[in-house]
Amino acid sequence: MSSVLLLIGSPSRISRSSALAKAIGQQLTERGVDVSFASLRDIPAEDLIAGRWDGEPAKAFAARLAQVDALVVSTPVYKASFSGALKALLDLLPERALADKIVLPIATGGTLAHLLAVEYALKPVLSALGARHILGGVFATESQVRLSSDALNYGEFDAEVSSRIGQSVEHLAELLAFANARKHTATGTKAPQVRCSA
Ligand SMILES: Cc1cc2nc3c(=O)[nH]c(=O)nc-3n(C[C@H](O)[C@H](O)[C@H](O)COP(=O)(O)O)c2cc1C
Repeated sequence: MSSVLLLIGSPSRISRSSALAKAIGQQLTERGVDVSFASLRDIPAEDLIAGRWDGEPAKAFAARLAQVDALVVSTPVYKASFSGALKALLDLLPERALADKIVLPIATGGTLAHLLAVEYALKPVLSALGARHILGGVFATESQVRLSSDALNYGEFDAEVSSRIGQSVEHLAELLAFANARKHTATGTKAPQVRCSA
């Protein structure tokens, strides 16, 4: 079975970018993908600030990441870039932690002004960690995401955003199915199916 880790990169407990990641996780689960969640809030703030890459929380996160086929990483836009706390977490990862991973970046911002923050700020960092399959990603403005009032980060999205979520899930599912088939061809075993419409 293909596996995906969703990394929540917003410091806020109630978060629109997390709602986008959650919706993507739900759709991937419906397609038979094994989805798990991690949040930068799982790592103690002292470890993030001190760059404690050899602490147990950072090592546990890196070990979970090493197990999966793909990473979905969500972040708010802060000061024309991705969140600094997310950078502090990515800094704790070993070199080439994203080699062989498919990566889907997700971001929300106050306005469209910083639509390209993922392109010029986040993608180079993902690439420095060895990622070679970085998908186009999904960006939404705050006004395109309505959060439920229960603080669980379930959201409703504008039609345009919903459509981009659907396209990204489809693209990711296709790449996962391809990677899965290649892995099983190499080992001579039968690949379980990831459902994609192509
Ligand atoms: C400290 C801070 C800085 C921000 N800087 C920007 C910015 O530079 N550009 C922008 O479009 N939105 C900016 N915003 C708005 C957030 O990107 C927006 O509210 C986003 O949806 C928050 O995501 P979250 O709910 O997942 O935390 C900023 C918000 C905060 C709290």
